[in-house]
Amino acid sequence: MTTEPPVAPRRKRILTGDRPTGRLHLGHLLGSLRNRVRLQREYETIVIVADLHMLTTRPSAAAIEQISKNAREMVIDYLAAGIDPEITTIYLQSAIPEVYELNTLFQNLVTVNRLSRLPSLKDMARNAEIDDDSMPYGLLGYPVLQAADILLPRAELVPVGRDNLAHVEITREIARRFNSLYGEVFREPEALLGEVPTLVGTDGKGKMSKSAGNAIFLSDDASAVKKKVRGMFTDPTRVRADVPADPDNGNPVFVFHELFNDRPDEVQELKERYRQGRVGDGEVKDRLTAALNRFMTPLWERRAQLVRDPGMVDEILYHGTRRVQAMARETLREVRGAMGLDKAMKRMRRVVERREKKARRVASS
Ligand code: TRP
Repeated sequence: MTTEPPVAPRRKRILTGDRPTGRLHLGHLLGSLRNRVRLQREYETIVIVADLHMLTTRPSAAAIEQISKNAREMVIDYLAAGIDPEITTIYLQSAIPEVYELNTLFQNLVTVNRLSRLPSLKDMARNAEIDDDSMPYGLLGYPVLQAADILLPRAELVPVGRDNLAHVEITREIARRFNSLYGEVFREPEALLGEVPTLVGTDGKGKMSKSAGNAIFLSDDASAVKKKVRGMFTDPTRVRADVPADPDNGNPVFVFHELFNDRPDEVQELKERYRQGRVGDGEVKDRLTAALNRFMTPLWERRAQLVRDPGMVDEILYHGTRRVQAMARETLREVRGAMGLDKAMKRMRRVVERREKKARRVASS
């Protein structure tokens, strides 16, 4: 009796990624990186470094010059956070010529009206201090370029935050429109809306962000972490250590303890003493520094390895980009075929070949 070997089911393909805006912080780690690290074991994961999308709000030459440094730093942060280049493909968007091409074709499959109503674009414009009159055509087309990113490697799942949900919806609409005009080429990808808790900054004021200067970066070392924790905002109503106070009223030091301290008993004990007015902010902060040290030690170790091997990041990006390039070529071949664009190109290629042949004949006679 023979038994068929079990066929491993193909893993679904994920595309996720970021614009290379600079160093990543603990907010990114909780918001998206941890999720990606988990998903990469379950799915075939591709991570895009979306440098072309940066141009939609920051097209200056000076800003472009920053991009490659930022992209490298971001990739190092990815790897430090635990994205495993052995199983995950990381690639540079601008290095794939087909994305420009697919973007051009997709631009005809969505209306200006649909795009200009998107709240995400309005938010991005506002953040970049762009008013209605100076809205660049490229920024309006941000979701179209993203659709090209997603459909180029035929991603099936797109893990996104709420702000990008509409862009996946646009991608689905473009796929549908393409299929109805030219035949079934694309499958509609699905958004994977992750629980994205926003992390408060060290100033206790708002969301952790680079621009607010309230971030603990993944690239911060132990002494930087210690300094930032020391300077953390606490409860302004508690003037002395012997004043009983509520640890759960948004005090960021306790918020961080809850999220990053791997010793829940210690956190409960500190909270209890805080309620009774038997612990000072200094001790609560020192314990947080120690907890963050434990939390960040694996990141520091992975980073140290990358520093010892500086060619590795380029190598990873190169291999990832080559892999996506092969997928992109195949998709564009199908797209041109379905649209009938290839016929005209083939005919032109024949003209070129005939001319070259003739030129060779003339040269050799
Ligand atoms: N729009 C994403 C951001 O907010 C970046 C991005 C570009 C992206 N292309 C993508 C994310 C494709 C997922 C899939 O930074």
